[in-house]
Amino acid sequence: MADSAITGNILVVDDEKSVCDVIEVVLAKEGHTVTTVQNHTSALEAFEKNRFDVIIQDIKLPGYSGIDLLRHFKEVSPNVNVIMITAFDKWDTTVEAMRLGAFNYIKKPFDNNDIRNSVSRALLQNKLRNELLNKKSIGSFSLEMMVGNSKAIKEIHDLITRVAPSDTTVLICGESGSGKELVARALHYNSPRVYEPFITVNCAAFTETLLESELFGHVRGSFTGAIADKKGLVEVADKGTFFLDEISEISQEFQKKLLRLLEEKEFKSVGSVSTKKVDVRFIAATNRKLEEDVKTGRFRQDLFYRLNVIPISVPSLRARRDDIPYLAGYFLARYAKNMQKDITSFTNEAMNVLVNYDWPGNIRELENTIQRAITMCNEKTITTHNLVEKIQSATAQQPEQASAYAASEDMMGPGKYFDLEKEIAAIEKKYILEALNKTDFRLGDAADMLGITTRSLRYKIKKHNLHDLEKSE
Ligand SMILES: Nc1ncnc2c1ncn2[C@@H]1O[C@H](COP(=O)(O)OP(=O)(O)OP(=O)(O)O)[C@@H](O)[C@H]1O
Ligand SMILES: [Mg+2]
Repeated sequence: MADSAITGNILVVDDEKSVCDVIEVVLAKEGHTVTTVQNHTSALEAFEKNRFDVIIQDIKLPGYSGIDLLRHFKEVSPNVNVIMITAFDKWDTTVEAMRLGAFNYIKKPFDNNDIRNSVSRALLQNKLRNELLNKKSIGSFSLEMMVGNSKAIKEIHDLITRVAPSDTTVLICGESGSGKELVARALHYNSPRVYEPFITVNCAAFTETLLESELFGHVRGSFTGAIADKKGLVEVADKGTFFLDEISEISQEFQKKLLRLLEEKEFKSVGSVSTKKVDVRFIAATNRKLEEDVKTGRFRQDLFYRLNVIPISVPSLRARRDDIPYLAGYFLARYAKNMQKDITSFTNEAMNVLVNYDWPGNIRELENTIQRAITMCNEKTITTHNLVEKIQSATAQQPEQASAYAASEDMMGPGKYFDLEKEIAAIEKKYILEALNKTDFRLGDAADMLGITTRSLRYKIKKHNLHDLEKSE
């Protein structure tokens, strides 16, 4: 396996000597360098003297809080990946550990494979992070694809950056069309599982029986029509990420089976007597308030807690209107190019209508609206007439809202158009300046960093009037 080829320096902290010994033997066989300690004092000493890539730590240590130890490790070296060893009754502490940035947890009694796999994934994640830091991009999904400049979207970017690398379960809540699936993909593509499958299942699209067979597979003859063995999607997703969309829609009976899958990472195919193990990271999404379903008994509380380790709430578009001009500009650039139309801007009036509309269908509705407007538009600029009637009239009926949103005026400048080309030019200038600064104005290096030729960089420096800067250096 490619990931087992990466070896590292590992610290094991567990008060039971036998546990330390087993882990040491298993990991040393894989080529890792292993240090084992049995109490927090020795752990702190070892940690001070050495640089560890991965720490495996028992969550319960005699006379000291495992959580405090983890907190210390993460404060001193935020990039160290800590794997917690937990017992089945320590769920609360485990959740706390994941929130503090633990990489993963393994339940006692564990299987040697759990240890091997977790460590190799933690090391792979270090490697990917270093590659990204060194700008050797892995060509993954960039967070910039999640467009927006509002405080809310920046917070979501931060949260994704923090939790993507771990194996933590994430529950994404938000209205329909607000971008929940995009968040799930961003988590997968920024995680060490990036080269493994990302599998999505919309729970609302299946009846209970079909969902079970879809997820867990079935054996031949287990029901009418099961003419051959079928592999379940959970198994297809092994080593990757499994995205359970519309999670609120699963039956009580199936909630129980899902709980077992989340807790034990094991499942039974329909009609099979044996269980299978998988290594999958789960992400779930819902457009309902799941807490309320828990209160009414519609959704199991224990399952809710296991899903909700890290909650990410994606706000509706009307709650972050600052993002509308950016998103509209982004969709305009994308679809005008696709449709081979030379449309580059919106009239101020059209942008005001877009900013003030309520967007019950959120970003998906905005995306469709812009696509349609491009089809309708025969000029270089989109006007209110190119917008669907519904959106024009909704805004006309809400004059108080139109005046309430002053930020749109600021963003576009009074009486001006929202000018996409100008926006793009400003972004280009910012990147060029950044590259020039980072490379001390060495044109060859800056061009490499930007992925363009030196000649093209020279041209752009002239275009943005940056040559004065260059000379003064
Ligand atoms: N921040 C964003 N930047 C750019 N495009 C976005 C953004 N958020 C969402 N989109 C786009 O909007 C559309 C809807 O997003 P997505 O499918 O992720 O929403 P959702 O919350 O999963 O919706 P649903 O509840 O209907 O399944 C997609 O085409 C997605 O690419
Ligand atoms: Mg979705």
